[in-house]
Amino acid sequence: MKVILVNGSPHKEGCTYTALKEVEQELNSAGIETEIFWLGVRPVSGCLACAQCIKKGPNGERPTLRCVINDVVNEFLDKAEAADGFIFGSPVHYAAISGALSSFMDRAFYGKGKIFRYKPAAGIVSCRRGGSTAAFDQVNKYFTISSMPVVSSKYWNMVHGNTPDQVRQDEEGMQVMRELGRNMVWLLRCIEAGRNAGVEPPVKEKPVMTNFIR
Ligand SMILES: Cc1cc2nc3c(=O)[nH]c(=O)nc-3n(C[C@H](O)[C@H](O)[C@H](O)COP(=O)(O)O)c2cc1C
Repeated sequence: MKVILVNGSPHKEGCTYTALKEVEQELNSAGIETEIFWLGVRPVSGCLACAQCIKKGPNGERPTLRCVINDVVNEFLDKAEAADGFIFGSPVHYAAISGALSSFMDRAFYGKGKIFRYKPAAGIVSCRRGGSTAAFDQVNKYFTISSMPVVSSKYWNMVHGNTPDQVRQDEEGMQVMRELGRNMVWLLRCIEAGRNAGVEPPVKEKPVMTNFIR
């Protein structure tokens, strides 16, 4: 089993990374394979709303589920297909997730339910002082629109600090990260046990989209 931990910070090994590493350690010690996927510092475009990623081919071929902007998003989607769970980490920027992660998640999730549904996920946020719950709510929205079981901890998944060292001093925050990791392990194992026992995913209805027009 594999979990991808996305680092949505421009700092490769900053505060968000420090929190992700604490989660990762719990996953690894339970034998779960992991990969930290860093967005990098190159600009990440927002979604062009072109819907090319979900369009069928000229002869009815399946949609590619890949973005026309061939960047870090497609790199991630290639890996995400085979992953069993996800953690998305972000620094808090103006009481929101980072602009790069917001653009990244818009493009990665749009119409990509096939890649994400029924796979457990969690968001974590790192802030100096405030805005963490707003950012935490924001990141969770992607999971709850994608039929992903959301993994929680004993508090909202946040750490406080402006440097990795300060984050490590947030003992409660670090404990929240460790508990999150163990809860993720437990849920992954429950899902695997269910699958082995023949529990099928729920039957999906044909989608209804009313766009509030009657
Ligand atoms: C553009 C920008 C906006 C920020 N906005 C906030 C904020 O609203 N609230 C806060 O507590 N910290 C804010 N910070 C501080 C970072 O969230 C905090 O230092 C975080 O732990 C850095 O994580 P990183 O090292 O992974 O980037 C901001 C930092 C930047 C660069």
